[in-house]
Amino acid sequence: MIQGRSSERKPSDQPPDKWVHWTTKEKINYLLNRGNHFMQGHLQRTAFCVNEIALELFREGQFPNDLSLSYLMVLSGASALHDIGKLFLPPDVLSKPKGLSAKEFEIVKTHTEKGAEIIEKVIKEEGHSDSLLSLAADIARSHHERWDGKGYPKGQKGDEIPLGGRITAVADAFDALVSPRCYKESFSIDSAESIIVEESGTHFDPKVVSAFVLVKDEIAMHYAKWAPKS
Ligand SMILES: [Fe+2]
Ligand SMILES: [Fe+2]
Repeated sequence: MIQGRSSERKPSDQPPDKWVHWTTKEKINYLLNRGNHFMQGHLQRTAFCVNEIALELFREGQFPNDLSLSYLMVLSGASALHDIGKLFLPPDVLSKPKGLSAKEFEIVKTHTEKGAEIIEKVIKEEGHSDSLLSLAADIARSHHERWDGKGYPKGQKGDEIPLGGRITAVADAFDALVSPRCYKESFSIDSAESIIVEESGTHFDPKVVSAFVLVKDEIAMHYAKWAPKS
């Protein structure tokens, strides 16, 4: 776990309105340990799904140039930071119960770049490269790209999108579908699977979707235990 720099100020003991005084590292720590319940549960469950999908892809021998054991060791932790940029968006936009205006959606979209920039700032402060954080920055930036090039922020297409972003996109969508949100009810696991399969080759990398389908029952067993409430 990333540790805060200041010993006398513990992020988890501070209210969010003091965040402006914290280092970026402290903000990351807060999110992962004591942050907003919705965000924390979503990040942990998504990271679990990412790990299950990536292990299946590894077993199948897919993406041999990217999917090494050392990559697998940091992927799940890195994906847990995918939405960290949302910490810096206006809370009223994030918790809006009904549809976002076009302007508000543009604001939400910035969480990808903001998240990557924050992680890159932490890497710079550390003064040395860190494989988990470097991958986390890639994933934060790319997890809303789409296989067909219609995603954001860059409109990358196919395997131009970093593998971690392509795997996180499926896991992220699955958790969002099966979890209740302020603007929607939750879908069943089978309905969520159907939606993801339907978007294979348009929204999602087909190989990642195929791996997800193979591990879906395993994922479902854990979701039954967690019963996401956020
Ligand atoms: Fe996101
Ligand atoms: Fe997410």
